[in-house]
Amino acid sequence: MRLAKRILSLAGAALAITASSAAGQEPGVANPARARIDYMLKCQGCHQPDGMGNTTNTPPLKNEVARFLSVPGGREFLVRVPGVASTDLKDDRLAELLNWTLFQFDGANVPRDFTPYTASEVGRLRKRPFRLERMPARDALVAAIEELSAAKHNQK
Ligand code: HEC
Repeated sequence: MRLAKRILSLAGAALAITASSAAGQEPGVANPARARIDYMLKCQGCHQPDGMGNTTNTPPLKNEVARFLSVPGGREFLVRVPGVASTDLKDDRLAELLNWTLFQFDGANVPRDFTPYTASEVGRLRKRPFRLERMPARDALVAAIEELSAAKHNQK
């Protein structure tokens, strides 16, 4: 019995160390293990564990999501989509989850000057969730992203 307790507490300490060492790598993510669990509970039913979504009704986050940060209006959009804005998490947890999502699935496209989402920014934006107008808004952002990557490509 005593031994079992000791093993448990050692395992707890190991987990805490893992969490704190990873925290330094992802700005705005105080607790990556917690963010991962929030993603599992609130997001992956639609977006899938690997962030690939599906071809009928859920866009991929993988290798895509951070691109929105590089065009005007994209930063706001990522908070105002209904799946994000109306999820059942407090503002600080949602900010952490969104920052985690960006680095977890699309770290390479996170702009170098990215400032992590904060609880107050997320709290303000989620009060105005997108409804049906999100599709044309999203189309316009995707077009802007494509234009930007074509322009970059031409520069090379
Ligand atoms: C019921 C299914 C569903 C759930 C649950 C869901 N999403 Fe989404 N998500 C979507 C769909 C569909 C879109 C495309 C825009 C739209 O129609 O809302 C989207 C768009 C997004 C976007 C914008 C990127 C883009 O390509 O449009 C982000 C970021 C995002 N979701 C993150 C999350 C996170 C984080 C969670 C969990 C808190 C979550 N989603 C939960 C279905 C879902």
